Amino acid sequence: MRRPVGHASGRAGSSVVFGTPRWYARGVEPLKVLDLPALARVPAVAARLSAPAGPARPTLLTCAETSVLSLPGRYCVVYIVVSEGRAALVDVGSTEDIPLIERGLQHLGLTSDDVAMVVATHLHFDHVMGLDDAARSFGAPLRLGSRSRVAVETGTPIAWPRRLGFLRAIPGWVMQGAPVLSKSDRARGLAFGFPWGHNRFLSPLGPALQHMQPLPGLPGWIVIDTPGHSSDSICLHHGQSGILVAGDSVRNFRGGEWNPLLDDNRAYDATRKLLMSLPIRAVGPGHGPVLVGEGVLKSLPAVGFFGGRRRAEAL
Ligand SMILES: [Fe+2]
Repeated sequence: MRRPVGHASGRAGSSVVFGTPRWYARGVEPLKVLDLPALARVPAVAARLSAPAGPARPTLLTCAETSVLSLPGRYCVVYIVVSEGRAALVDVGSTEDIPLIERGLQHLGLTSDDVAMVVATHLHFDHVMGLDDAARSFGAPLRLGSRSRVAVETGTPIAWPRRLGFLRAIPGWVMQGAPVLSKSDRARGLAFGFPWGHNRFLSPLGPALQHMQPLPGLPGWIVIDTPGHSSDSICLHHGQSGILVAGDSVRNFRGGEWNPLLDDNRAYDATRKLLMSLPIRAVGPGHGPVLVGEGVLKSLPAVGFFGGRRRAEAL
């Protein structure tokens, strides 16, 4: 079994300070990594048994300028990104994740008044079924990447894998814990993130988040268009701390891997090349535990349908 790349922490509840001489030499603050078992959900048996990296765990990444709290949501990892006392909630897959987010905000000493926006990294159901309810609960606008925004404005679902391509998602769903759609998600969530859905959010939509532009209100964070897994995927990057909130551009079911579920291979090659050119020492994947290690993306393998690893092609 492959060990996670510099997993967040060896002991539950422990804190480690991560950094390297090269980063310190540039005057970059150390990155603190803290496991927070008090915010853990009980992981599903399917995830414990099938995902070599284990289920997602709540982890707090902090450095001088920012902090990021990962919370294991029902269908994906939810992130609370904080900068100068303002927070962005990133990916809310289920309305059932909202109480966990409230606990996460409380842990960070924040309230719903501090939530500046709710962001979707892409319009796949496992990342957005709870988005509208979260935006309304926290009184914050929805902010989407430019391609997601166009899809919502025009009521056009984003492209999905053709024919039986979606079957490739089944192993990942098992490693996520094989979650059954909750009653509340069946009631409202089915309108969001599915091939038949028009994503008619009731919450106010803020202006589109633009490629390589700052994330408004959260100093130090920028938005990066990262098509490949889906045409509308975005990541959030904080250059000073080296943290990437990756959505499904990276996942960690097997110790950290490039996502094999793609809608455009060529676009994904360009995305990988772009991401690997950035200063990154911690990655918040869309699924699975946080990955930590300087240059962590450069060591990620690609995986095949049955989970076999192969070296990512040279770019
Ligand atoms: Fe996902």
